[in-house]
Amino acid sequence: MILPIVAYGDHKKLRTVAKEVEAVNGDIKQLVKDMFETMYAAKGVGLAAPQIGKNIRLFIVDGSPFSEDEGEDEDPLADGISDFKKVFINPIIEDETGKEWPFHEGCLSIPKIRESVIRKPEITVSYYDENWEFKEEKYAGYAARIFQHEYDHIEGVLFTDYLSPLKRKLLQKKLNNITNGEIEIDYKMRFPKKTKK
Ligand code: NI
Repeated sequence: MILPIVAYGDHKKLRTVAKEVEAVNGDIKQLVKDMFETMYAAKGVGLAAPQIGKNIRLFIVDGSPFSEDEGEDEDPLADGISDFKKVFINPIIEDETGKEWPFHEGCLSIPKIRESVIRKPEITVSYYDENWEFKEEKYAGYAARIFQHEYDHIEGVLFTDYLSPLKRKLLQKKLNNITNGEIEIDYKMRFPKKTKK
């Protein structure tokens, strides 16, 4: 089932530090299935539970579109991205290393805005997968970037938080339009301040 994606401005949903998942039960399995369907319908590469209104530490990723866009063969940042399809439950970033690099991030909750965000390129993470198996893995490049962006969602952080005050000011009108539902998008969203027309 495709779920509506919560839009920028819904502070209760997007700005809360999410709670740990206690076990993978039938509800979680169904949620994961619905989240993949929702993410693919919106052509995203990651989706966090708070974005569909669930206050839990869970997100999904599928970086395979990046391998087509960025050309995995030539681009070392795309290493492993075509297989980067995962479910992360109660993830922890154990370590972040390397020289910070800029990348234009986007977000399904903030449609049609992409801005450069600086983050470290290599991460070591631990998490439970969809079978409740504990894993520790290292990611770099685009895979690390997707993880870091989605991880922020379960901490109540959005990529716009990293922008300079000036940049945010320049974007304010667009951000308000998203909150008010005054935007054309081709996937299902829920806007916090949409007035019925
Ligand atoms: Ni996002």
